[in-house]
Amino acid sequence: MIKQYLLSPGPTMVPERVLLRMAHPMIHHRTPQFSAIFAETKQMLEALYQTDNDALMLASSGTGAMEAAVTNLCAPGDTLIFVNGGKFGERWGKIAARHGINAVEIKVAWGDAVAIDDVQAALNAHPDAKGVFVQASETSTTTEHPIREIAALTAKIDGCVTVVDAITALGVIDMPMDAWGLDVVISGSQKALMLPPGLATIALSEKAWELIAATKGCHGFYFDLAAERKNQRKGKDTTAWTPAAALIIGLNEVLKMIEEEGLQNLFTRHQTLAEATRAGVTALDMRLVSNAPAASTTGAFVPDGVDGAAFIKYLRDSMGVTFAGGQDHLTGKILRIAHLGYYDAFDVTIAMSAIEMALERFGYPVAMGAGVAAAQRVLVNRVPRAVL
Ligand SMILES: Cc1ncc(COP(=O)(O)O)c(C=O)c1O
Repeated sequence: MIKQYLLSPGPTMVPERVLLRMAHPMIHHRTPQFSAIFAETKQMLEALYQTDNDALMLASSGTGAMEAAVTNLCAPGDTLIFVNGGKFGERWGKIAARHGINAVEIKVAWGDAVAIDDVQAALNAHPDAKGVFVQASETSTTTEHPIREIAALTAKIDGCVTVVDAITALGVIDMPMDAWGLDVVISGSQKALMLPPGLATIALSEKAWELIAATKGCHGFYFDLAAERKNQRKGKDTTAWTPAAALIIGLNEVLKMIEEEGLQNLFTRHQTLAEATRAGVTALDMRLVSNAPAASTTGAFVPDGVDGAAFIKYLRDSMGVTFAGGQDHLTGKILRIAHLGYYDAFDVTIAMSAIEMALERFGYPVAMGAGVAAAQRVLVNRVPRAVL
């Protein structure tokens, strides 16, 4: 037997009590029983978003909500600005191109956060842009972008919104939607929401709704956000189309766990785990990929002479520990260690000790325990002092 550990930035581990809740016999989604769960879940989700706006649930992966944001806010021929600092930033441009929307790219070196001056310059050059589309946490490079500062820029421009892909940021970092003036915030179930894949969430500000109402063209049929809002609001408490009912029931349990933990504790936990992971890999002489490292996932270069793709395959297939590798030009060069969702101190020590043992098996001279110890020095803060 090889015990399995899922330490990738999506899908992430699902807590036992959530698995058990989803294992209950299926109920029909057009019933008062489901609507009661739906309404409660929506309210708790809005608390996680820190918003008075509606947080909507869509039966799709996160990319579905990204496409919904683009097609509801922009008609063919419109212009949007997008930050491309990695695989997921690049996706905004691909979605826009598919719908005949003019996408202005702000290219950012992988591992860097976007410079706010570059966003301002793009907004100056394209006063007709409907929005700036950006990742809060660009998972491919494990980097955080300055979404609060970007929202402050678009707040000054009529008809221009900030659209945030927070797929690996919601429930990880403190990003209060209303207080920061974020217009659209998107997430996905298989990340910090601690669920299997298949559910996306999206919340929109009043400014974004006004822009949608004024946008003539194709809003799509499946992802018609105005229709979803009408159905998902109090009184109707359902979705326009058949919902991902089991995932919504699971989300109800997840949000109860988050409520019990408290938002500030949730964010502090993620910060501590990220800090410990960074300390661990640095102690193993593995250089960080990001200059603005994310709280969700740590990317680190594998040591010279180690084949990163073979390393990850070995960790997964021979040791039972699943990490993510690099994409595009980082393929075979980096390891991405997740620390979001159902993840705590001893998951970090497992990650570190697995990396150390794998390095040794790959013939790399490693000081066993160095990464674990560096992580422990940070993680000890998560454990209360003993009362003697
Ligand atoms: C930041 C970010 N955006 C978008 C996506 C795409 O989401 P999905 O695979 O759920 O469509 C991911 C998935 O890893 C992500 O991390």
